[in-house]
Amino acid sequence: MNWLITGGAGYIGSHIAELFQQEGLNYYCYDNLSTGDPARISDSERLIIGDIHDEVKLERIINKMEVSGVIHLAAKKSVEESREKPILYEKTNFEATERILDICSRNGVSQFIFSSTAAVYGESKSGFVSEDAELHPISTYGVTKMKAESVLTSYISRGLIQGVSLRYFNVIGQASAALKDNSSDNLVPRVLTAARQHLKPQIYGNDYPTSDRTCIRDYVDVRDIARLHLRLCRDFDGPKLPPALNVGTGVGVSVLEVMQSIYSRMGLSLNPEVLPRRQGDPATLVAEIGKLKEKIGFVTKFDFESSIESLLH
Ligand SMILES: NC(=O)c1ccc[n+]([C@@H]2O[C@H](COP(=O)([O-])OP(=O)(O)OC[C@H]3O[C@@H](n4cnc5c(N)ncnc54)[C@H](O)[C@@H]3O)[C@@H](O)[C@H]2O)c1
Repeated sequence: MNWLITGGAGYIGSHIAELFQQEGLNYYCYDNLSTGDPARISDSERLIIGDIHDEVKLERIINKMEVSGVIHLAAKKSVEESREKPILYEKTNFEATERILDICSRNGVSQFIFSSTAAVYGESKSGFVSEDAELHPISTYGVTKMKAESVLTSYISRGLIQGVSLRYFNVIGQASAALKDNSSDNLVPRVLTAARQHLKPQIYGNDYPTSDRTCIRDYVDVRDIARLHLRLCRDFDGPKLPPALNVGTGVGVSVLEVMQSIYSRMGLSLNPEVLPRRQGDPATLVAEIGKLKEKIGFVTKFDFESSIESLLH
């Protein structure tokens, strides 16, 4: 069975590729290197440089490599940028996913794992969200991922493909420095950069209705995400899969706690700069993870502190 990992040179995709490499699964990465890094792929022959908007190339690769399953990660992922460039997000996250599903269903690809996000939920009263919660995304990014999920669900319900949308919460950690998250959008890499440069980290809003007034999120380790994909791909049981699964730890950590953990581990005193709230940031967003355990028998291995620890080596 051959897997095609779109966005395989990215932060999460390269962790999946590396684990597949170690465990002997057959895979190819398909990436336009817009934010990806070829150095993250240890077996360079497995990297195909291409764009998900290039349908002709994608279809040719799927046939040439005899791909029977796709792990679709290639996307634009910044909540802030999605506000400035809604058309780019619509085309990349929604329209391209729809076309990839069409290519898959016409070319014998029977399995599809989609990287979705907790941003599909938006605000929730309790802050704890289950897969059955109504989706009210408050960012363009979240809307485009919700629409892509919905197309996949429709393909699944029509029997055209088997698959699942994995709603990752905030992904952190690393298996090695070579695979690190280079993103300037995510909180943890931004705080690490500020700490290394002895700068003040920035908090967007300290007037939220939470215990320390900063936003609370669920931080899930990228090594657990890679293990989950390995589990799903080794033993793919389509009929057992629900349309969507939360991928988190079920534990909430505040922005201030993230900063305290990093600054204290680095022996630095913390004096953050407080900026106004950003549009599209819910106060609390933590996963209910019962379904992941019940349906897949999967539990995360790494807690928040061990994820942070992995970033400091
Ligand atoms: N990192 C997180 O915390 C997080 C949380 C929830 C969901 N996700 C989702 O997980 C997926 C991977 O995220 P990541 O953190 O690894 O991001 P990333 O930016 O590191 O990886 C995305 C990869 O896709 C590639 N890519 C982008 N547009 C492409 C295109 N048009 N054609 C081909 N390749 C293209 C990039 O070059 C990059 O290698 C995304 O779909 C993202 O929405 C990430």
